[in-house]
Amino acid sequence: MESIKNKVALVTGGAMGIGKATALLLGQHGAKVMVTDINKEKGQETAQLINDAGGYAKFYTLDVSKKEAVTQVCKAIFTTEGSLDLAVNNAGVGGAMAPMHLVKFADWERTIGICLSGVFFCMQEELKYMLAKGGGKIVNISSLAGLNGVATGSVYSTAKHGVLGLTRSAALEYGAYNVRINAVCPGFIQTAILDDVPQKIIDYSTNIRVPMKRIGKPEEVANTILWLLSDASSYINGENLVVDGGFNAG
Ligand SMILES: NC(=O)c1ccc[n+]([C@@H]2O[C@H](COP(=O)([O-])OP(=O)(O)OC[C@H]3O[C@@H](n4cnc5c(N)ncnc54)[C@H](O)[C@@H]3O)[C@@H](O)[C@H]2O)c1
Repeated sequence: MESIKNKVALVTGGAMGIGKATALLLGQHGAKVMVTDINKEKGQETAQLINDAGGYAKFYTLDVSKKEAVTQVCKAIFTTEGSLDLAVNNAGVGGAMAPMHLVKFADWERTIGICLSGVFFCMQEELKYMLAKGGGKIVNISSLAGLNGVATGSVYSTAKHGVLGLTRSAALEYGAYNVRINAVCPGFIQTAILDDVPQKIIDYSTNIRVPMKRIGKPEEVANTILWLLSDASSYINGENLVVDGGFNAG
């Protein structure tokens, strides 16, 4: 993918799952990948895999829910690499499952802090540096839960709806400045975030609701993100792409 080559690409939550698959794919396509995560050991592994394969990657420890830390890491990347061209705001947690009237405020704060405020903090910095260099592309990771309500998952669903609001609003604000902002809404994807979801819910969702009768792979989401970051999607802006094997089609 020529339009990705030598671009400086920030990936949050790049230690595992969808973020790791995305970082590796961007590395394969010649991007300079800035892997960030709270998990230092696994994040460094992702960067190492890219470097071992002949690519270019660095790792930064980053908790996206900490505004000051986001500011510092983005500044360090821009100063060191001279640019911040592409960004994948992917870091997320499933959040505690509970009926809405029993949700603890601490759980609300944590999930909103990582899944929504984290995306906002990152976008603010990314946009600043993209504007400084005359353009860029951002992909935010929302969810099917960003399109529909989720019983006992109200906080996560609210955060993911919010990510689509940020995506669409930013697309309106920055389209004229050569920055494209889109979102991806994955369905059930085989990653560690599903560890806390009861297996019977995963089985029902993937075997009954998904017409393709299987769970998705992180690489299948990564391919979609790569396409949205590339010039192959040059007229797509403010959009959310569902990657769910057909779950949400009916
Ligand atoms: N797997 C799915 O079924 C699914 C479906 C819809 C949306 N998503 C979304 O995809 C994104 C990636 O999730 P995943 O499925 O790869 O899960 P995952 O648990 O494998 O990966 C999440 C990554 O985010 C990191 N992370 C957690 N809190 C962080 C923080 N405060 N700061 C920085 N990094 C942090 C984790 O260390 C981990 O590396 C999330 O936003 C998630 O909500 C996943």
